[in-house]
Amino acid sequence: MIKQFDTYSLLPHNTFGIEAKAAHFVEFTSVADICNFLGNGFNGKSLVVGGGSNLLFVNDFNGTVFHSAITDIEVVAETDSDILLRVGSGMNWDELVAYTVEKGWCGLENLSLIPGEVGASAVQNVGAYGVEAGDLIETVETIRIADAVVCSFTKSDCDFAYRHSIFKAAEKGRHIVTYVTYRLKKAVDFKLSYGNLKDKVEEFGGATLANVRRAVCEIREAKLPNPEQIGSAGSFFMNPVVAAHKAAKLKDEYPAMPQYPLACGDVKLSAGWLIEQCGWKQTPHKNVGVYKHQALVVVNLGGATGSDVLDFALAVVASVKEKFDVNLNMEVNVID
Ligand code: EPU
Repeated sequence: MIKQFDTYSLLPHNTFGIEAKAAHFVEFTSVADICNFLGNGFNGKSLVVGGGSNLLFVNDFNGTVFHSAITDIEVVAETDSDILLRVGSGMNWDELVAYTVEKGWCGLENLSLIPGEVGASAVQNVGAYGVEAGDLIETVETIRIADAVVCSFTKSDCDFAYRHSIFKAAEKGRHIVTYVTYRLKKAVDFKLSYGNLKDKVEEFGGATLANVRRAVCEIREAKLPNPEQIGSAGSFFMNPVVAAHKAAKLKDEYPAMPQYPLACGDVKLSAGWLIEQCGWKQTPHKNVGVYKHQALVVVNLGGATGSDVLDFALAVVASVKEKFDVNLNMEVNVID
């Protein structure tokens, strides 16, 4: 089924809570429907939205916004050790995680409570607590917007890296994700080394899938705003990566600075720490600020426009550049 609307409010489709309108909005529940729609000569400006948890609308969108409502879920292969689970791109992400935990399939539990939908997990390569969606993804199926051709990308085609995939680079804006297939494990293989996750899991009685999910949910709830209550898009910026010599210089000057050496020799810094040091937890600007428990999260304090948020974010970037000579890149996709 296809649903089509004109002059459509995007308020329910962006977790920042920004009022913006799409000239056209198209929602579909099957591959055949969206293929037919695109095959009938569509050639306008387009944008694909999932849960809208990584988007900032600065203006109304003068084109067609596509939203997948494909939500079926199917085990497509099973071995003694693995499950291949093919999931519709419109399924709510956390509902998928809850489902896999309930089934006793291991892999997604550290990614509990991330807002958004399944399609975006492949585009953004969402990650938390030492796990990235790309680690579990086997294939991504899409429809190419230009010619309505069905495409399939293997894990290596997807070119996953930290908050990165081919869908944010060479193939950006060209595809609508329809299905994502995840390889999950029947035997448990917990990843508990991030922060205080292991301690939290112990507090709940030890490592089980349900306890890991519960611990991740609790940690997230304490640090990150609930998008249903406070408008935000989760981490607004990516954690910056700098050369080792630069990291060493910064550490001399700021001994408390968190630093995470990467296998390639570079060092990842914590954007939240850098932003907090610039004083932004104390200085909201108009109706935009950073979240009190996590400075990496820019929040709409009520009634902010997309431009208000963008101006604030640019001021944050400038301050971090000035104080630390470090460039922050946005994780959020700014649509204008
Ligand atoms: N920190 C501060 N002040 C802050 C925030 C953080 O000093 O306001 C320090 C913390 O004390 C810690 C370090 O920075 O030493 C790292 O903080 P945290 O563990 O909260 O993780 P993060 O690097 O800030 C990333 C992801 C989050 C993800 C967490 C946990 C990015 C851009 N963000 O945040 O992802 O939940 O790790 O894995 O990589 C998201 O993408 O929307 C998101 C929430």
